[in-house]
Amino acid sequence: MYFTSDNASGAAPEIMAALARANDGYARSYGADAIMDRLHDQIRATFQAPEAAVYLVATGTVANSLALSLYAQPWSAVFAHSDAHIAQDECGAPEFYTNGAKLIGVAGDHGRMTPDTLGQALARTGTGGVHGVQRGVVSITNVTEAGTTYTPAEIAALTALAKSYNLPSHLDGARFANACVATGATAAEMTWQAGIDIVSFGGTKNGCLGVEAVVIFDPAKAWEFELRRKRGGHLFSKHRYLSAQMEAYLTDDLWLRLATHANAMGARLAKGIAALPDMHLQHPAPANMLFPEWPAGTHARLDSAGAAYYQMPAPQGREAARLVTSWSTTEADVDAFLNALRA
Ligand SMILES: Cc1ncc(COP(=O)(O)O)c(C=O)c1O
Repeated sequence: MYFTSDNASGAAPEIMAALARANDGYARSYGADAIMDRLHDQIRATFQAPEAAVYLVATGTVANSLALSLYAQPWSAVFAHSDAHIAQDECGAPEFYTNGAKLIGVAGDHGRMTPDTLGQALARTGTGGVHGVQRGVVSITNVTEAGTTYTPAEIAALTALAKSYNLPSHLDGARFANACVATGATAAEMTWQAGIDIVSFGGTKNGCLGVEAVVIFDPAKAWEFELRRKRGGHLFSKHRYLSAQMEAYLTDDLWLRLATHANAMGARLAKGIAALPDMHLQHPAPANMLFPEWPAGTHARLDSAGAAYYQMPAPQGREAARLVTSWSTTEADVDAFLNALRA
């Protein structure tokens, strides 16, 4: 009953086997390994983007921060939902890597910006001449921090607005696979076909040991990204271990298979909770992250039953939680949790 985070799960056997294979003998360092040569084509095929540039890093924070630094000036505004990971959970790394760009929080129910709320934020920024930050980049998270998703059409509406101000759009895809499975969208539909310029394509949460790919749809930006990654200290010397994970992750659609399982476990949990009296989900939960609310006293019961998850702020007399399922969650885990809830 371990639902604290998809980061708490281990690495999938296919990833570990790929790492063991990559460990054999010698390989060129710093991204010049043969696996990375193959991976360029594999990612381009996955995204149906033959020109795309692809770089691997080991954390989502640096994937996001380097991606934003490619498009934001130090005096830029980066627009993202107020609850966005880049705004709340990256310790100022996006500001650090962009040399001080300002994050502007955009409102929106259930973790989602709307054309209306983003439009308002865009309209009121950059109007003060030299005295204020200038509009820079829009960053969208899918799956959102509230566990909800954007469809490609909803992303396209946001990026169209960004483009009307001549701004590029970034997608934080720490849970990209879960978002694709939940919406039925392909990687291409979710990104460049919906107007996304650069994506942080997550692997770690969904069964890798530690790898994220930054996919850049404008190849003219590639060299600058390489320089920024090295200067930022994120060019791995034994890069083959990053490449091997990502290659295995994409092979035979492992990324989609793992996310399909994680989402199915999320749906099982959501269905079970919704059927219980006096409990509900605070946000729709189409993927693998749920925010239930229940009566006070429930945390203590679940804790003594051995369940692990994050507690969240709740209205008076109530309690709330964040539950995350992963590739390794079992039906037995979910059912044990639901039994403990019912008890
Ligand atoms: C939405 C989102 N983006 C990015 C990340 C990546 O963070 P990390 O630097 O911990 O890999 C996370 C991890 O919690 C996340 O939830």
